[in-house]
Amino acid sequence: MIRLSPSILSADLYCLRDGIDRVRSCGVDMLHVDVMDGHFVPNITFGLPLVSSLRKHTDMELDVHLMISDPAKYAPLFVKAGADIVTIHAESQIETRETLRSIRYEGAKPGITINPNTPLDSLFPYLEQVEQVLVMSVQAGFGGQSFIPSSLKRIRELSLRLSENGLKVPIEVDGGIGPQNAMSVVEAGADILVAGSSIFSTNDGDIEGNIRALTDAVRQARNRTS
Ligand code: DX5
Ligand code: ZN
Repeated sequence: MIRLSPSILSADLYCLRDGIDRVRSCGVDMLHVDVMDGHFVPNITFGLPLVSSLRKHTDMELDVHLMISDPAKYAPLFVKAGADIVTIHAESQIETRETLRSIRYEGAKPGITINPNTPLDSLFPYLEQVEQVLVMSVQAGFGGQSFIPSSLKRIRELSLRLSENGLKVPIEVDGGIGPQNAMSVVEAGADILVAGSSIFSTNDGDIEGNIRALTDAVRQARNRTS
């Protein structure tokens, strides 16, 4: 089953509750929360209070993507705030193994990711330790960027590597995903699609129509591969 993880970075924050209720009513059960600190990436977004508030009001799986310089310090705090999955970047200059361990210790699923310019094999040392691998298909930092086509090859390589090692870790892909490329991303091996602008800020905010377009595209891929 392919899952969608809508990124609230592109949602209308004044109407966040409405946006979340609408994706939920379409059967989506995961929410992608992009945390940026203005240091690891140039942009600043959300912090712990938002995750706590989301936790209080929704049963959706909170998929927190940390784009921050000190995930070792903050990852456990995001778990305490209510995150279900906490993904950290292998590029952060920290004790990656310890941090992944602390995410699990606090009770969430640890995830690892890298930017498009980082060699794929930087992920390999952590594959046995994580419950999700995120392939960035844009440079982390902003919503609304174009999908980088060479990401497809990286997804295929990662998928192969995982199956060669008998690992059943879901592959999530993040950045520039919409109905026009969802099929190729799934055919390459993605299990979870993050989508921000193609859900929240396309077609005058027709969230239900945008989700339908994405799920239709995914269904075509599944029909083709099955
Ligand atoms: C980018 C973020 C993405 C972003 C995706 O740094 O990690 O999650 O919200 O947005 P779209 O789908 O608009 O590329
Ligand atoms: Zn993200």
